[in-house]
Amino acid sequence: MASVTHSMVTFFVLICFIGIVSSSSVIPSATTFVASNVPTPYSELSTTFYATKCPQALLTIKAYITAAVWKDRRMGASLLRLHFHDCFVQGCDASVLLKDTPTFQGEQHAFPNNNSLRGYEIIDNVKAKLEEVCPNVVSCADILAVAARDSVVALGGLPWLVRLGRRDSTTANFNAANSDLPSPFLDLNGLIDGFKKKGFSADEMVALSGAHTIGKSKCAIFRKRIYNESNIDPYYAKTLQQYVPCPKSGGDLNLAPFDITTPTSFDNAYYKNLLKKKGLLHSDQQLYSGGSTDKKVLAYANNPLLFSLDFANAMVHMGNLSPLTGKQGQIRKYCGRVN
Ligand code: HEM
Ligand SMILES: *[C@@H]1O[C@H](CO)[C@@H](O)[C@H](O)[C@H]1NC(C)=O
Ligand SMILES: *[C@@H]1O[C@H](CO)[C@@H](O)[C@H](O)[C@H]1NC(C)=O
Repeated sequence: MASVTHSMVTFFVLICFIGIVSSSSVIPSATTFVASNVPTPYSELSTTFYATKCPQALLTIKAYITAAVWKDRRMGASLLRLHFHDCFVQGCDASVLLKDTPTFQGEQHAFPNNNSLRGYEIIDNVKAKLEEVCPNVVSCADILAVAARDSVVALGGLPWLVRLGRRDSTTANFNAANSDLPSPFLDLNGLIDGFKKKGFSADEMVALSGAHTIGKSKCAIFRKRIYNESNIDPYYAKTLQQYVPCPKSGGDLNLAPFDITTPTSFDNAYYKNLLKKKGLLHSDQQLYSGGSTDKKVLAYANNPLLFSLDFANAMVHMGNLSPLTGKQGQIRKYCGRVN
């Protein structure tokens, strides 16, 4: 009986939530962005962009992404990250998907991406299917944006409406990928600045970082934190040292989950972990280290619904970063190369 009651409550909360997201919350704050700090003509993006051009597009993407995440839960994390790394480098234009050629240096081997980004083949498979059902219509940049949302949902997160109509770049920017993607060794001010340069507030940065409630990171990236930092739970540090294992030298590629409690659930556990000094990366723990973002971390740790709403809004904002629209760019036939 108790469990029926509980799931009914969950159900009603969810329905209310979806009402909030689709009717008010996402749209008003998107409007705020126009007035403030997003210079791009994002209003050219629309949630119904493919409704007549390719009615099967959204369900096709969802089917492929959901299947991929069931097969490998980490894939959901990898696909979410792919959209982030696309948008922060010359906008959400699928530049991250362009493969290097002998005469072209793309973004895939830039430092934050090299041997780190995953999921390219999932996007290629979705694209191949979409080229069968509606050739030359659905952009790779839009596939990334929808795949990020569907990944979050497949891992138990709440949905948001994805604005569509992005087109694909014919260029990529190796240097911008090195400079514009945030480093895990940044302090709080560096993180705030890096996101501010892209038009995000510190609060949005904190909300977006909640993506680290899923996925994994390599020993080489958190070694310094688990051996040399003091604002870390000592048992947590020991566990990572011994069981990943992440030794003082060697084991660079060994992986640890960002969230040691619910590693494949899109929930607010990331923030709860920060309160216990169990952030995996230096940059993660910076959000709760006595600075200006402590309050927000506390709020998200105590209120999963607030986190989900703010995350959804911030993802919509991220998806609006400098899209190519109208006649700009192209619809790539293969996401890995220009037409
Ligand atoms: C706040 C600044 C951020 C920094 C410094 C950062 C850094 C990193 C690093 C170093 C990794 C692990 C890479 C590896 O070990 O190969 C990682 C993984 C990940 N990041 Fe971030 N990130 C940040 C923000 C974000 C944002 C905004 C998102 C998405 C909205 C995101 C989503 C992810 C996900 C899902 C993973 C796991 C990927 C996987 O398991 O394949 N990150 N991030
Ligand atoms: C990317 O990683 C490979 C393999 O570890 C390495 O050989 C290559 O130099 C790296 N590329 C860049 C641009 O750092
Ligand atoms: C930790 O700090 C010490 C002293 O600064 C340094 O010698 C050592 O290499 C550092 N260890 C790691 C794993 O970063």
